[in-house]
Amino acid sequence: MTILASSDPSAGATWPGRVLVVAALVASGLLIVGPALRRRSPAAWWLLLGYPASAFHVARTWRALMAGCGLAVSRRPALTVVSGLVGNGASPPQPRVPRHGFIRPTGAGFELVARLLPGQLPDDFVKAASAMAEDWQVHAVRVTSLRPGVVRIAALYADPLAAPRVPRTRGPVRLLRVVVGTLGTGAPWVIDLRRIPHWLIVGATRSGKSTLIHALVAGLAPQPVALVGIDCKGGMELSLYSARLSALAIDRAQAERLLSALVDLTLARMTVCRTAGVRNIWGLAEKERPVPVVVIVDEIAELFLVAGRHEKDEAHAAGTALIRLAQLGAALGVFLVVAGQRVGSDLGPGVTALRAQFAGRVCHRVADPGTAGMTLGDLNSHALKAAQAITPEQAGTAVLASGDGWERGRSHLVTEADAEAVATAHAHLTPALPELSAALA
Ligand SMILES: Nc1ncnc2c1ncn2[C@@H]1O[C@H](COP(=O)(O)OP(=O)(O)OP(=O)(O)O)[C@@H](O)[C@H]1O
Ligand SMILES: [Mg+2]
Repeated sequence: MTILASSDPSAGATWPGRVLVVAALVASGLLIVGPALRRRSPAAWWLLLGYPASAFHVARTWRALMAGCGLAVSRRPALTVVSGLVGNGASPPQPRVPRHGFIRPTGAGFELVARLLPGQLPDDFVKAASAMAEDWQVHAVRVTSLRPGVVRIAALYADPLAAPRVPRTRGPVRLLRVVVGTLGTGAPWVIDLRRIPHWLIVGATRSGKSTLIHALVAGLAPQPVALVGIDCKGGMELSLYSARLSALAIDRAQAERLLSALVDLTLARMTVCRTAGVRNIWGLAEKERPVPVVVIVDEIAELFLVAGRHEKDEAHAAGTALIRLAQLGAALGVFLVVAGQRVGSDLGPGVTALRAQFAGRVCHRVADPGTAGMTLGDLNSHALKAAQAITPEQAGTAVLASGDGWERGRSHLVTEADAEAVATAHAHLTPALPELSAALA
């Protein structure tokens, strides 16, 4: 006959002990394998060891940290006196500190929300971010305002941009959406042209502009889209993908003709949409919908900087066409990705108007603070400081900004050879756009 373990009182008494022994064994096992685990699988190490230890530390030292950062608020003096009298010399009540929520693990660290005390501002927490990072022994802490009276505090245990790993693509690829790198939060850096149709990519020489374009092209090449290149440096950068380009202009004269052909194509699409009674190409039936066109311009300065009178007319016409495309293109399936070292008015009067049309901005390392300001616009000073702090060793790192706010990110290192190979492998997907190729003939 089987005797149930629970029917033996002495066996029942050993349960808590056994649980403790097992827990101790697991904990010491994890501590022993910890360093190896951290090297081989930082994400698993973080979830199993790093995060629990950090969360415990944060919860334990929160009150002292808030007081040290000047974020604790003393109780009213009257209350202190009353409590002293009533409590017969007992220690006065502790100062109030902001309450925090659950300390949630993230892929690259942890985050928590904190409720401000009356009279406190999110900026008070932003100023304390470095002290928090020191105390929690993490790479960085970023504080953002979540909603009135509440801030989100995100800590990163290591810099996800130091060596971003190319993630495996999960799920179906969405049209015109490409994961081009990793964000400072550890999340994927996504360029979604249907959400933000036009992007300006700025950076000093060898800061990572072309690499970002390689990553974008590598993601777009397998999709049913047309890619069009404008590379007035004789096609040195973009001719890599010529097998997958529906058209490539390699000097200013060609660029001007190609851009005006693109404006005509856009206007023709507008007529189609108007006749069908829809506001954009996505409203058309799938069979009738024209192919989306992504226009990539590498080195905008080559288009605008001119010597003679004749060139000036070409540059002016090209600039006007680009502005027109930017204004009309998004709804009609024409998207712009423009890269350059500078985007100042020194390039010509049209550049400021053009810049205003780009809702998406990417600012790599720049040669002067003015360029960062021009690229990122009137964003907050933290974004500008982050852009100016990018060093030459961090090529590919950038501050990206859009209506959604700003972030640091680093593109995946997609080499020229990788980009060329992807373009060649998908050459059969290149849509023929005779109206564009005719402009180059
Ligand atoms: N995301 C990245 N990760 C690691 N290294 C990078 C990254 N992006 C760029 N680099 C390094 O920087 C070098 C220069 O990058 P890239 O050619 O993209 O610069 P660029 O801004 O286009 O320069 P230029 O203005 O001269 O054309 C690359 O060859 C590569 O070694
Ligand atoms: Mg380049």
